[in-house]
Amino acid sequence: MTQTQLDDLVHVGSGADAAWWRSAVIYQIYPRSWADGNGDGIGDLPGITSRLPYLRDLGVDAVWLSPFYVSPQADAGYDVADYRDVDPIFGTLVDADTLLATAHDLGLKIMVDLVPNHSSDEHPWFKAALAAGPGSPEREHYVFRDGLGPNGDLPPNNWLCVFGGAAWTRVSSEAGSGDTKGQWYLHLFDPKQPDFNWDNPKVRDEFEDVLKFWLDRGVDGFRVDVANALIKAAGLPDWDEPLHILGDAVGVPHDHHGKKPPMWDQDGVHEVYLAWRRILNSYNPIDAEGYSSDSDRILCAEAWVESPERLSRYVRQDEMHQAFNFEFLQAQWRAGDLRDAVTKSLAAADSVGAPTTWVLSNHDVVRHASRLGLPVGPKRPNGIGIDDPQPDAALGLRRARAATALMLALPGSSYLYQGEELGLPDSTDMPDEFRQDPTWARSGHTERGRDGCRVPMPWEGDRPSYGFGPSDRTWLPQPASYRALAVDRQVDVEGSTLELYRALLAARRENGLGTGSLSLLEGYSRDVVALVNESAAGTRVVVITNLGAEPVAVPPGTTMLVSSGPLTLSGTVPTDTTVWLTAQP
Ligand code: BGC
Repeated sequence: MTQTQLDDLVHVGSGADAAWWRSAVIYQIYPRSWADGNGDGIGDLPGITSRLPYLRDLGVDAVWLSPFYVSPQADAGYDVADYRDVDPIFGTLVDADTLLATAHDLGLKIMVDLVPNHSSDEHPWFKAALAAGPGSPEREHYVFRDGLGPNGDLPPNNWLCVFGGAAWTRVSSEAGSGDTKGQWYLHLFDPKQPDFNWDNPKVRDEFEDVLKFWLDRGVDGFRVDVANALIKAAGLPDWDEPLHILGDAVGVPHDHHGKKPPMWDQDGVHEVYLAWRRILNSYNPIDAEGYSSDSDRILCAEAWVESPERLSRYVRQDEMHQAFNFEFLQAQWRAGDLRDAVTKSLAAADSVGAPTTWVLSNHDVVRHASRLGLPVGPKRPNGIGIDDPQPDAALGLRRARAATALMLALPGSSYLYQGEELGLPDSTDMPDEFRQDPTWARSGHTERGRDGCRVPMPWEGDRPSYGFGPSDRTWLPQPASYRALAVDRQVDVEGSTLELYRALLAARRENGLGTGSLSLLEGYSRDVVALVNESAAGTRVVVITNLGAEPVAVPPGTTMLVSSGPLTLSGTVPTDTTVWLTAQP
């Protein structure tokens, strides 16, 4: 076997000394759907706390919680009305403290979601802005503008919102009058999510204070929602291209014909994150006696940007620690596409000395067990309904397991989305009347949206709500297929997806793959991804993902460590399968 050293891609640090976040596996909990403590059909913080030992046993390092703050839930909590308190549907601040303490006792770190681009329209600042009227300092917290045309009847520019329809909503000229003759406010997402004005220092001060509030409570980091959106181009110029955020994952190309969208990825955002990094560093000063990188508090950007190079700007030395890298998630199931995603991502991150991250599923995209069961090539749908072409479930699961095994072999940090360790598919037969994602209504019922990946977790196959909570209530219906995939049906069952994840996570840790250095192996067909990950201690793990029709022989002198699926009778690697093998140094 010949090996191509990708020297420039070796970037993940010095083995045992590397900071935790450079190689951590981080599990995303979507609080409404993980575990329901009180039986109201919506997950909550006490429910999460009670199930945390499951995550310790799974073998992850940290948890990211999607928002649990006070919110009218117009966008499932990404519309925050109070950044410093817990919504009663999820519990209380005391419950948050208990969750943090329990997680820390179990050796798990906790990251929370920060939503700085917009608040809820029920945030006290927005209510005050409406009441105070045009020209007031209160309106300066948000992006209000007069309309165009003789009576201001036209929106200030032509921007569209991500969920469909105009990005501007007109308000009444006099508070409480009910007319619609006033100014317009900007919302890149739902009308119930007005965008903050980040040119206003008061907005910056407020968020720095919110960071400190949660840091003081002991959180280990923040996932920063739409981190690429805070600053808009001066003058808010028109934009005639589609306004998208989720890239190819929801079927919209990244190509803007060389033009730069005025609402995304403006250079000014970086000033904000430089300031935030200083705050985080102050909680564990690098030059203080007793400094340990294990206590680093971190920032992770959710930034859907044009290229890995643009993304790497968010993780320069003094900015965020991590940024979600969606290249791998968006890659089609073709060996060349996967190889490209891996090498480009590592090269871009390495250029700024940052670790890269990997992710295959989250609460915004069709789960990879379903996505990979769709035909290769066409753009992926934003949600799947009963009358849409259905994924091939068995094929999707097989490919999902192979994709995950490839991802977890890569150096850097990996994010898992709740339930993927069970091989959960999207709910693709959910009756439309249950849908809550604003996308469904705002797209004029043309895009199903994201409810299919947000269905409550199955814990015990024979209990009501499959053990999600103590009652039979679930805020979204669970598909019948979830019964056989429940945790209790998979734990200790040889060959189950849950046991595969546990084996992968254990082997990843034992072999130092998260902090290893990666090389491509040559000599395989173009339908095969073949890699070697060498740990700082010198252990070498060969990783082979076969996407071709022909089975692939394992290299001589290697020993099987984990396989995403059964091998052929003659011991070769069949199609849509990933194997990890130990190799002699
Ligand atoms: C979150 C979405 C949310 C949007 C607006 C994102 O990128 O992940 O779930 O709808 O930001 O806050």
